[in-house]
Amino acid sequence: MSTPHPFLKFVFLLLAVFGSQPHAAAAKKFEVKDGNNKTCIIAELLMNFSVKYETVDQKENLVSFPLPEDAVVDGNSTCGKGSGESSLLVVSFGTGHSVSFSFTRNLSVYNVEKLGAVYNLGDEHHFPDARHNDSVRISSENTGINAQINTTYVCMTAQQIHMGNATVTVSATRIEAYVPGSDYSKEETVCKADKISSTTVGSTTVAPTPPPIPEDPVSGKYNVTDSNGTCLLAQMGLQLNLTYITKDNKTGVEIVNIDANATSSGFCESTSVGLYLKSERTFLWLLFSMNTSTKKSYLSGVSVRVDPFPEAAGGAINITNTSLNYLQATLGKSYKCNSKQILQVSPLLALDVFKAQVQAFTIHNGKFGEAEECLLDQNNMLIPIIVGAALAGLVLIVLIAYLIGRKRSHAGYQTI
Ligand SMILES: *[C@@H]1O[C@H](CO)[C@@H](O)[C@H](O)[C@H]1NC(C)=O
Ligand SMILES: *[C@@H]1O[C@H](CO)[C@@H](O)[C@H](O)[C@H]1NC(C)=O
Ligand SMILES: *[C@@H]1O[C@H](CO)[C@@H](O)[C@H](O)[C@H]1NC(C)=O
Ligand SMILES: *[C@@H]1O[C@H](CO)[C@@H](O)[C@H](O)[C@H]1NC(C)=O
Ligand SMILES: *[C@@H]1O[C@H](CO)[C@@H](O)[C@H](O)[C@H]1NC(C)=O
Ligand SMILES: *[C@@H]1O[C@H](CO)[C@@H](O)[C@H](O)[C@H]1NC(C)=O
Ligand SMILES: *[C@@H]1O[C@H](CO)[C@@H](O)[C@H](O)[C@H]1NC(C)=O
Ligand SMILES: *[C@@H]1O[C@H](CO)[C@@H](O)[C@H](O)[C@H]1NC(C)=O
Repeated sequence: MSTPHPFLKFVFLLLAVFGSQPHAAAAKKFEVKDGNNKTCIIAELLMNFSVKYETVDQKENLVSFPLPEDAVVDGNSTCGKGSGESSLLVVSFGTGHSVSFSFTRNLSVYNVEKLGAVYNLGDEHHFPDARHNDSVRISSENTGINAQINTTYVCMTAQQIHMGNATVTVSATRIEAYVPGSDYSKEETVCKADKISSTTVGSTTVAPTPPPIPEDPVSGKYNVTDSNGTCLLAQMGLQLNLTYITKDNKTGVEIVNIDANATSSGFCESTSVGLYLKSERTFLWLLFSMNTSTKKSYLSGVSVRVDPFPEAAGGAINITNTSLNYLQATLGKSYKCNSKQILQVSPLLALDVFKAQVQAFTIHNGKFGEAEECLLDQNNMLIPIIVGAALAGLVLIVLIAYLIGRKRSHAGYQTI
């Protein structure tokens, strides 16, 4: 779906905006190419900057802002030539801000040797009332981003990188440097924080022959478990309903069932829980959050990547939305819904959920707690109740009519 906008000099750089439609997605794909138009770095990630600075009245102010939509690959990005030379991705945004990833490699591993950032305190929009107006240069050599050569580095979990007066939070990350092909390598290196915790067990009902149009998805059983126990338990069928632009510029719809055998991993944190499902064509990330004031858990984020398919113009489809509020349940209880639910993620993507039971955070003995039935199911149960009540009413009316009729006819006989 991403449409590359190449611009060429000694170094060929490319920025692919996530989604050909401007409203499509929240994250961006950054790409660096060399003089031969060969991709060397691809990166997609959510970033959040948190910066402390001094104000005119000599107070300390803390601001935080995400990597904005206007971020672009900067001309200083390079593809290292020799094996010893580092490759550099520089992303610049706003008025004089940038962030840079400096990659190095050896025979088997590449890593972000240094993460750097430059922020311009003269930018009133991001740093109101700043005492100084100079550019501040910060960096860290402790990024933890490393992966096997010829694999994509994947890390859903938010990683904080501290440097100087700033903290950069990186999440929903897919990065590859020294890319062998033209897109991400299929093989992945999943970061430690997303530690592999389980595989899934498909339910027994597997269709004998694969139908041309996907049927309802087979229900998968998923759990995320760490040393403190299980923090996510789910049983559900998942289906993606994607709207995309076809090669002849029409709108197409692609229904993709998430394989019940999808490899799952995830992470458990105090107020967020992640589940990551990877199958042949798709990558699906579900983020659950906790509302500590209402003591409820809910699905707060969905991130989807679907590999390129022949009918669609552009490359892979990437859609992320981390401001959702679905599948709400009280902590310690499970969310249950037998009816199909359509969770709209973006105008172009719906996540359809079938026969779901989900529980996040507090889970005792690896078992679902008391079920909280969804509204759809409650309404479905209401229909038989209403029909039943109506029938009972009808019977009563007939009975009364009969009794009255009988009384009248008795009375009639007696007068004769
Ligand atoms: C950015 O990080 C700060 C502190 O870590 C947090 O308070 C804020 O909500 C985050 N913002 C976004 C958009 O993630
Ligand atoms: C990576 O892939 C390239 C091209 O397919 C290959 O030449 C190289 O040997 C691979 N390197 C490793 C470490 O697997
Ligand atoms: C997929 O989404 C489109 C547009 O929202 C809708 O018209 C269609 O019925 C959906 N298909 C399925 C199988 O849910
Ligand atoms: C596709 O359609 C849009 C508007 O419908 C138009 O602006 C655009 O130029 C078209 N692109 C191609 C490649 O035909
Ligand atoms: C799931 O995996 C099992 C064993 O690997 C296989 O028999 C089954 O067909 C798979 N199911 C699906 C839906 O791919
Ligand atoms: C928690 O829920 C309350 C009530 O619905 C809402 O006002 C508040 O914004 C929520 N907090 C978060 C962090 O979502
Ligand atoms: C994300 O979801 C929210 C809530 O459904 C919606 O208001 C918002 O437009 C969505 N964002 C994107 C980028 O689709
Ligand atoms: C989690 O999944 C693993 C692998 O399928 C399974 O062995 C384990 O029993 C599951 N744990 C729970 C609590 O369901």
